[in-house]
Amino acid sequence: MKKKQKKARKVKTQKEFDNISCGSAKAFPKQLGRADYFKCPVWSADEPSFVDDLNKASDKYIEAAKKTLKKDIDKRNKEFGDKKDMGHVFHSTTLMGDPNFLDLQNYIGATSHNLLDEMGFDLTNHQVFITEMWVQEFAKNGGGHHTLHTHWNGHISGFYFLKASEKTSRPIFEDPRAGNVMNLLPEKDRSKITYASSQINYEAKPGRMIFFPSYMPHQYIVDMGYEPFRFIHWNCQAIPKGAVQWNQK
Ligand SMILES: [Fe+2]
Repeated sequence: MKKKQKKARKVKTQKEFDNISCGSAKAFPKQLGRADYFKCPVWSADEPSFVDDLNKASDKYIEAAKKTLKKDIDKRNKEFGDKKDMGHVFHSTTLMGDPNFLDLQNYIGATSHNLLDEMGFDLTNHQVFITEMWVQEFAKNGGGHHTLHTHWNGHISGFYFLKASEKTSRPIFEDPRAGNVMNLLPEKDRSKITYASSQINYEAKPGRMIFFPSYMPHQYIVDMGYEPFRFIHWNCQAIPKGAVQWNQK
């Protein structure tokens, strides 16, 4: 009995582990067929035609947002030391209903409809609406950023960059599959987009437009304050037509 227990407890040698591990196959049997399922789209386009007018139209919203936060910024600087506006992001109130942004809204609404259609959704009985749209500018003194988040209760979200460069912040999208992220392994080459990738970043420049499903987690890396960084952000939702009450007058 004692002899049997001793045998069971015997530690395997490296050679024995090598023989039973998955890497022990001397040659890959053959090239397997592969299919990609449950893909996550991100669309981008460069549409600089809106930039000048929308920067002008956005100025008053950014100024108002700076005024709103001034009291809090002054309080912080008085209490902890003067860092000016460092670390802040100045978010506007809603842009919905402002005629200066109507052309962009029409572009976004029509495009979002087309993208949901392209994804394979049947929109016969749904109508796509922009539910939220706002403009924001990161702090002049750096430190502006967005932590990782998704946009709830929506279908398509997006960005339109008004002030940006290679020196400013940029968006990063992350793998929405929590189960995959939990079991990731080190990547062979992080500069390549592969099945092992869990983050994708986009360069921001004025006029660049990005659309993505609202479930996509995204963040903005810390801006260093070298140059202004401003963009419009929005959410679209496809609403059942039966739920929309039209005014017949
Ligand atoms: Fe966002």
